[in-house]
Amino acid sequence: MSSVRSLLASATERLAAAGVPSAAADARLLLAHAWEVSVGELQRRQVLGEEPADVVEAQFGELVEQRLTRVPLQHLTGSAPFRGLELRVGPGVFTPRPETEMLVDLVLSELAGRDDPSVVDLCTGSGAIALAIKHEAPAASVAGVELDPMAHAWATRNAELLGLDVAIELGAAQGALAGREGSLDVVVSNPPYIPVGMEPIDPEVRDHDPEVALYGGSDDGLRIPLEVADRAAELLRPGGLLVMEHADSQGDSLPTALARRGWSDVADHTDLTGRPRAVTARKSR
Ligand SMILES: C[S@@+](CC[C@H](N)C(=O)[O-])C[C@H]1O[C@@H](n2cnc3c(N)ncnc32)[C@H](O)[C@@H]1O
Repeated sequence: MSSVRSLLASATERLAAAGVPSAAADARLLLAHAWEVSVGELQRRQVLGEEPADVVEAQFGELVEQRLTRVPLQHLTGSAPFRGLELRVGPGVFTPRPETEMLVDLVLSELAGRDDPSVVDLCTGSGAIALAIKHEAPAASVAGVELDPMAHAWATRNAELLGLDVAIELGAAQGALAGREGSLDVVVSNPPYIPVGMEPIDPEVRDHDPEVALYGGSDDGLRIPLEVADRAAELLRPGGLLVMEHADSQGDSLPTALARRGWSDVADHTDLTGRPRAVTARKSR
């Protein structure tokens, strides 16, 4: 048996040497996962000098080996945190990112004071945005739409496991929610937007996020986002709000393209690191 401190120190050193960002945090999360405890409980056991059983140590060793090959941390633990929810994720679904959490704030401030608002999350992936909105604004009627059957299955499972009443439609955002035209208060989307031909640097993204979740379908990455925005314009009531994530390189091009398509009050928003990250725009009245 080895001490928690020595297990963490050697795993952190190996992970850092392999280029894994936040090696120490990853080591802690993987040991907590192998021991089937929270990170807080792991720290308590470390303070008390408790040592994991050999079987836990072996399991931790296997997880570290996989992380060294840049299997995403979230695929190893099976979950990703998003605005206080724990979402089940794994192969076949895009891992939700912290920078996407700000889209939920933009939606919530639009919903404040409305009695029975309706929201759809186009390109919902794991269901992250739709489920967080329903969790934080329970009076809202929320739906999600996802093209990829694997991702759709993850989102449906997440809605069930979290007990959140969000219907997840399987299909293309471009033709979503037939019959609901002109009725929605908010359309939110984190669509695929990476320019075609641009390869993501991080192996976790390049090798493990599904391609359909990444590429925006044109050299500037904006073909699919603009198609999603066109459908949003059909689904929203006059004055309704579109909230859309984009690449930091698209902080001018996407707002400009939306304004040209007749959207009003187009505004771009930066994330916590100060990078252009999301656009809001209103359907003209
Ligand atoms: C960047 S991921 C975002 C997932 C999730 N909204 C999030 O923020 O974590 C984009 C998602 O859009 C889905 N997608 C791609 N093209 C689509 C389309 N035309 N209609 C609906 N979903 C689409 C992908 O399968 C993927 O799940």
